[in-house]
Amino acid sequence: MNATGSMGLAVAVRPCCRLIAAQILPRCPHRYGRRIAALPFFLRCSCGRRHFSRCPCALPPRRSAAAWVRAAVAPARDGAAVSDPRRLSTSVGPVPRPGGDEDFGRIFVQGLAAVKPLVIDSVEQPPAVGGEKTKKEAVEEEEEEEDRSEVAKGRLQSESEKEAWRLLKNAVVTYCGSPVGTLAAIDPAVEPLNYDQVFIRDFVPSALSFLLKGEMEIVRNFLLHTLHLQSWEKTVDCYSPGQGLMPASFKVRSVPQGSNGEVEEFLDPDFGESAIGRVAPVDSGLWWIILLRAYGKISGDYALQERIDVQTGIKLILNLCLSDGFDMFPTLLVTDGSCMIDRRMGIHGHPLEIQALFYCALRCSREMIVASDGSKNVLRAINNRLSALSFHIREYYWADMKKVNEIYRYKTEEYSQDAINKFNIYPEQIPGWLVDWIPEKGGYFIGNLQPAHMDFRFFSLGNLWAIISSLATPKQAEGILDLIEDKWDELVGNMPLKICYPALENEEWRITTGSDPKNTPWSYHNGGSWPTLLWQFTLACIKMGRPESARKAIAIAENHLSNDRWPEYYDTPTGRFIGKQSRLYQTWTIAGFLASKLLLENPELASILTFEEDLELLEGCACSLAKSPRIKCSRHAAKSHIFV
Ligand code: GLC
Repeated sequence: MNATGSMGLAVAVRPCCRLIAAQILPRCPHRYGRRIAALPFFLRCSCGRRHFSRCPCALPPRRSAAAWVRAAVAPARDGAAVSDPRRLSTSVGPVPRPGGDEDFGRIFVQGLAAVKPLVIDSVEQPPAVGGEKTKKEAVEEEEEEEDRSEVAKGRLQSESEKEAWRLLKNAVVTYCGSPVGTLAAIDPAVEPLNYDQVFIRDFVPSALSFLLKGEMEIVRNFLLHTLHLQSWEKTVDCYSPGQGLMPASFKVRSVPQGSNGEVEEFLDPDFGESAIGRVAPVDSGLWWIILLRAYGKISGDYALQERIDVQTGIKLILNLCLSDGFDMFPTLLVTDGSCMIDRRMGIHGHPLEIQALFYCALRCSREMIVASDGSKNVLRAINNRLSALSFHIREYYWADMKKVNEIYRYKTEEYSQDAINKFNIYPEQIPGWLVDWIPEKGGYFIGNLQPAHMDFRFFSLGNLWAIISSLATPKQAEGILDLIEDKWDELVGNMPLKICYPALENEEWRITTGSDPKNTPWSYHNGGSWPTLLWQFTLACIKMGRPESARKAIAIAENHLSNDRWPEYYDTPTGRFIGKQSRLYQTWTIAGFLASKLLLENPELASILTFEEDLELLEGCACSLAKSPRIKCSRHAAKSHIFV
C-alpha cells in the first residue's frame, strides 16, 4: 500500500503503521510556512484513513467568549443573528443554494479526493512569551474572572459547579496549541487504558457545556479535526473501517523530531480496531452530525456546515447508513456494542439507541445539506427514510398497557400482508417483570425488535432521544416521561439515570453477556446508573415543558457527584454504590452535570438539539399504514392515523 509524499514519492507502508509513516511523511506545514491544499495526498495508509502527521493549524476565527454569548443568548440585540431564521428556531429544511455537488449515488464512490479539498491555512504559532503559565494557573485565572462576571450577573455558582468547570477545563486536550476535545477521564488511581483519549460520544456533553457558556472554538476545532479523521476509502481489507465511518475516539500523540527536543503532534484515531471487543462505533458519525447542527444554531457560524468538505463528510456518514443491504427494515442493522453500550449486551440487531440517534441525525442533515440539483437525491432518500423510520418505531417499538395486552393475546404463524402479529412474536416472550412493571399510564419504546424477538428492556438513552428528536409522537413522549415519573425509584433512585432496566441475571446474564464480569447484574451497562444521562433527561424534560422533573434529578446528582469524585457509573438496583470498576473524574459525568445546569438556566437554548413534530413526514407514514399501496397520502390522513 502506498502513501504519497509531498514530493510525489510513493512510500510503502505496512497497514496501520501510522507512527512510522508519521515520521517519514511531511512535517508540520507551519514549519514550512506554506498552504496545504490537499492533505489526503500526504498520508493515506491502507486503512483508508487520513491521518495528520503534523499540525494542520486550521484554526477557526477567534471570537471572545463574551462576544459569542452575546450572539447566542441575546439574538435580539444582534442584527445579523436575528436575520438568520435557523438560529435557535426549530425550523426544518435544507439551506437553499444554487449549483451543487454530485449525484448522491455517485459522489461517494468516485473521485472523492477531488470533491474533498481540505484547505488548511498555515498559521504561525505565537512565540512563547517568557514565564509561560501552567494549565492549572490558566484555569485558576479564568475561574477568578468567571467568578467576577457571575457575581456581576447576580448568579452564583455552587461549589460543585465550580469544581466541575475546573475539572472540565483540565480535561481539555490541545493539538498544536488549540483545544480539540476532552479526555474521557482523568483518574490518577487506575490505568488509563483508552480513557486518555477523546471519545466522540463523550465529547458531546463537554461540547454542549462549552457552547452554552459561549466558548465555540473548541467545538469548531473538534468538528473539523474529527471530520478529517473520518474514514475515506472502502478498502478490501475487512479489518478496515467502511467509508464514512467516524472514529470512536482519537488521541493526540507526539513524535520526537531530530535531536533538538522538538516534537511533532498528530491525531491517531481508533475506529474500534484497538477497542476492547473490536466494536465499530456506529453512533460516532450520528453524534458528529447532531453536534454540527447544534454548533451552527448557537454560534450562527453556518459557513462551517456549508463548506464542501463538511457537506461531503455528512453525506459519507449518510451513505454508510442509507446504503442497501439485505435488511428489509428502515431501522439500522448493527452489531452488538456499537454505541454507548460498547460491550456484548444482547443489543445487536436494531437497538433503539442507534435508531433514535439515526433519526435525529437524519433530521439534522435534512436541515444542513445545501439544496441543489446534486443533493436532491440524498434529500429524497433522507425524507423517505425519516417517514419509514418514524412509522416503524412508533408503531412496532411502542409498549404500553394496551399494547402489551395485545401482544399477550397474539395469534402466531400468521402469513400475509394483513398479519397482525407481523414479526411472529410468541406471547410467552413477555417477561415476568413486565407484567407488574408496565404502568397504567404511560409507556416506552422497547429496546430492540427482530423477527420473533422483542427486547422489552427499557433503555434510557434511546427513549430520551426519541423525545428530543420527535421520533416519538407528542403523546408517546409524554408517556415516556410519565413512566419515568412512575418508576422514579427504579430509574432515578439515588443517581440518575439507569442505563437500562432491568438487569440481566443468572442464566440470561451468562448467555447474553457471555459471563461478562464487568456487566454483572445492576452494574455498568447491565442496569448500572450513569450520571451522564442526566443532560439528555434534562433536554427531554425541557422540551416537554416539565423542567421540574429535571430539577429534581439534578438535585439528587448534585448531592453525590462531587463527594463521590464524579464517577463514571453507579451500581445496585437503586444506584447507591459507586460502580465497582467505575473511573473517577469521568469527564462526561462532569460535563453532563454542567450542561444540565446550563440548560435549566437557559431553556430556550435546548432548541439547538431538539426537533418538533413534522407533519409532512407523517404523510409517508400514513401510506404505510393504509392497506392499499395506491391510497392517496395526505396530511389529514397522516394526522388521523399516526397517534398525533
Ligand atoms: C465506556 C463506555 C462508552 C464510553 C467510554 C469512554 O467504554 O461504555 O460509552 O464512550 O467508556 O468513556
